Amino acid sequence: MQHLPLFADIRDRDCLIVGGGRMAERRVALLGRAGANITVIAVKPSGGIERLADEKAIGLLRRPFASEPLDRYWLIVAATDDRELNAEVAAAAKGAKRLCNVVDDAELSTFIMPAIVDHDPVTIAVSSGGKSPVLARWVKGVIETTLPVRLGELASLAGRWRERVKQALPDLDRRRRFWHAMLEGEVARHMLAGRGERSEAALGKALSAWRDGEAATQTPGEAWLVGAGPGSPDLITLRGRQLLAHADVVLYDRLVSDRILEYARREGELICVGKSPRSPSITQAQVNSLLVRLVASGKRVCRLKGGDPMIFGRGGEEMQALAEAGLPFQVVPGVSAVEGCAAYAGIPLTLRGVSRAVLITTGHSDDGNASDLASFRPGQTLALYMGVAQLAAIGAALIDNGHDPETPAAIIENGTMDEQRVVRTTLGRLGEVREKLGVAAPALLIVGETTRCAERYNWFNPRAFERLDDPGNTLAQVS
Ligand SMILES: C[S@@+](CC[C@H](N)C(=O)[O-])C[C@H]1O[C@@H](n2cnc3c(N)ncnc32)[C@H](O)[C@@H]1O
Repeated sequence: MQHLPLFADIRDRDCLIVGGGRMAERRVALLGRAGANITVIAVKPSGGIERLADEKAIGLLRRPFASEPLDRYWLIVAATDDRELNAEVAAAAKGAKRLCNVVDDAELSTFIMPAIVDHDPVTIAVSSGGKSPVLARWVKGVIETTLPVRLGELASLAGRWRERVKQALPDLDRRRRFWHAMLEGEVARHMLAGRGERSEAALGKALSAWRDGEAATQTPGEAWLVGAGPGSPDLITLRGRQLLAHADVVLYDRLVSDRILEYARREGELICVGKSPRSPSITQAQVNSLLVRLVASGKRVCRLKGGDPMIFGRGGEEMQALAEAGLPFQVVPGVSAVEGCAAYAGIPLTLRGVSRAVLITTGHSDDGNASDLASFRPGQTLALYMGVAQLAAIGAALIDNGHDPETPAAIIENGTMDEQRVVRTTLGRLGEVREKLGVAAPALLIVGETTRCAERYNWFNPRAFERLDDPGNTLAQVS
């Protein structure tokens, strides 16, 4: 390890920045956030630095750096674009035995600035030892996506209670176990869901129980109805992923991919409750009662559903069952198939001057759901879930309702996944698609003028676009 990681308290300590450009401005902002007393030496300071000096937030010396005593400074940063001058500053700092960072020059620096994940008061510093700042920033991004948004609030709560907990639980080992239980349980869950007051109340109640020796009381279970998104594993929300990682039991649907299930906690139990349209499978009533039973027994259950739990996901029925049983639950939205498929096929759902409304429905009935289709009008976009088996009936119903047989349509199969396939066609030829191209579920049908954009904007999945353009491919015959 070439660099010792440490977190320095530089509040009200004198720090010097030499340079007045963009890099210097960034260092001023960073040291300013840490409460340093900053002086900048620059011949041509940027507007931002001038403004801070006018506001008396920093001291500004508008002159060149000269060999000058540096003893009063705790830290020195050389941030000019002149390497010789930076080296001169570094040498002067070395002579004064002061730590010096030279921007973009690990060789000349006695300390380097890490990439920072800032969830104040939790701070994570990432360094590549000056070898690759871009890599360090990438690692920072990866860490950012795994941390809860309200982590800092949770840490602040722990800070506020630290002394009280110490008084109530003097034994260090017991105190450690207490904090573990709080950060794994209800207190953290409430805080991370933005329910600060409930979190604080739960902490107070738990502390009394621990102090009075009643800590063994069972924690209540909770259900989390989480949308897993349309398929691609990176389309689950941050919150969904975090809850999945905490659940004791995961009840998941058939369309949830294995790669998303990998986010579940290793000790968690995974139970598939997917329904299959063509084979006998678990009923919704059975899913509801399993969910209620598990939560009532104190389990934290992640009910993981494809897309969004509230769009053709039966989330409403499960919420009702939980509410009737008096059990707590949360709903975490997901990217629904209509949003995922449209985005990854380059189809705007609304488009100024082309489509100003979206009708979302299902084609899951023998007549292709003709009664709902009757409300679809030109100037709108129609999105149909579960309609693959009824494509012919849907096309016929829409034409019967007066739509032009040349109205464009797109069928997106396995939307957002590596295997995504987009078939463009028209209402008049919708019936041929299934037979000629073997389109299979899961697939979503989008009808309306905006589907024409797919040809122009299908940038996300070039493979699908290639197929479309390939003259020897049957897709081209249909579209
Ligand atoms: C029972 S519904 C569940 C919808 C889900 N709750 C949502 O919000 O996307 C299943 C239907 O969603 C559509 N669907 C789900 N994932 C899809 C995907 N990756 N590509 C295309 N259609 C999809 C299909 O029409 C499929 O038959």
